[in-house]
Amino acid sequence: MEKLISSRSNLQLVPESYVIPPESRPGNAKVPLFETIPVIDIAGELGSDRAQLVKQIMQACQDFGFFQLINHGVSKKLMHDVLEVVNELFELPAKDKESICSEDPKQSCRLYASIDYDREKVHYWRETLRHPCHPLEEHVQFWPEKPARYRKVVGSYSAEVMKLSLWLLDLICEGLGFEAGYFEDHELTQNQLMYINHYPPCPDPSLTLGLPKHSDPNLLTLLLQEKVSGLQILKDGEWLGVEPNPNAFVVNVGLTLQIISNGKLLGAEHRAVTQKNVARTSIATFIYPSENCHIGPEKSLLSECSSTTPPLYRGFAYKDYLSSYVADTNESVPPLERYKIQY
Ligand code: OGA
Ligand code: NI
Repeated sequence: MEKLISSRSNLQLVPESYVIPPESRPGNAKVPLFETIPVIDIAGELGSDRAQLVKQIMQACQDFGFFQLINHGVSKKLMHDVLEVVNELFELPAKDKESICSEDPKQSCRLYASIDYDREKVHYWRETLRHPCHPLEEHVQFWPEKPARYRKVVGSYSAEVMKLSLWLLDLICEGLGFEAGYFEDHELTQNQLMYINHYPPCPDPSLTLGLPKHSDPNLLTLLLQEKVSGLQILKDGEWLGVEPNPNAFVVNVGLTLQIISNGKLLGAEHRAVTQKNVARTSIATFIYPSENCHIGPEKSLLSECSSTTPPLYRGFAYKDYLSSYVADTNESVPPLERYKIQY
C-alpha cells in the first residue's frame, strides 16, 4: 500500500526512484497531437457498408496499429458511469484500498503500483487495478465490493466491450481472409482482462512516465480514457499524442494479432505520460487467448506462395510467451524478438 503513489501525500518533488533515465524520459519537447490517427465513425453510411468498414479497419491496423472508434453503440451513459465509478474507487479511503492491494501476481483481482515494483529499475507514476472479466460469473465475486455499484457498472461495461471486441475481430477476420468465425470459435478470444490505470498528478511530468514504452501482448485492446491527454504512440520513430475523447474507444492491435497475421497488422508501441495538475484514469480491456492456445502465423496467409510470404514467427504456447513478456520492466529484448524466424 505504501508503494502506491497516491498514498504519499503532497509530493512536491519527483522522488529519485521515479525519475526516468534521460534517454527515455518525455522531457519538455512538445508532442504533437495525433490528428492523423484514423477515426472510424460507424454511424451512418459506413456502418452499413461492411466491405468499406473492413477496408478502413484493416488500413488503420496496418498503418498505425491504432484507431479511434466513435458512434460504436456502447451508450454514453455507460461510458460515463464506468469512468465515474473507477474514479470513486481510486478516491476511496486508504483502508478500503488497502484491502484490494496485493503484490501477488497470481491474485485474480488486485490493486498494485507496478507489476514488479521491487525489481524494476525505475518506478512508474501510476496505480492499476487489474482483474479478469469474462466469463463474468467466474470472476465477479473477486471484484472490489466498494464502491457499491462497481460490480454492476463494470460488469455491464465489460459485457458490452466483449461484444464490440468480437465484432471488430470478425471484421478483421474478414479483412485477413480467414474462415468465418475464426476468432469466435477459437480459444483465442476466451479471456477478457481489464487494466484500470490511474495516473495521479505529478510535480514534474517531464521526468516521469505513467507507463513505459510497450506493445500490448494480447489480440486486441479497447481503451476508454477521460478527457485528459496522456496516451502517446510511436510512429516512424516519433512520439505522437492521441486526442482524448471519452466517448470513443481507442482500439489497438496486440502482438498476438501481429503474429497471427504474420506481421500484416501492427502491434504498435505506445506509452502513457503524466500531467502536472490533473489526475488521469483510463480503462484498458484486453482480449487474449487461453493459456494453452497455440499461437503462430495463420497457415492460410502462408500457403499461397510461401516463398514470398514466409512465416515471420515460430509458433508457441501462449503461456510460454506470457511468462517472457514483462511490460513493466526495462527489458532489453523486445518480447517478439525471440519468436522471429531468421532468414
Ligand atoms: C495499457 C495502456 C494506456 C493508457 O494499459 O496497456 O497502454 O493511456 N494504457 O492508460
Ligand atoms: Ni498498452
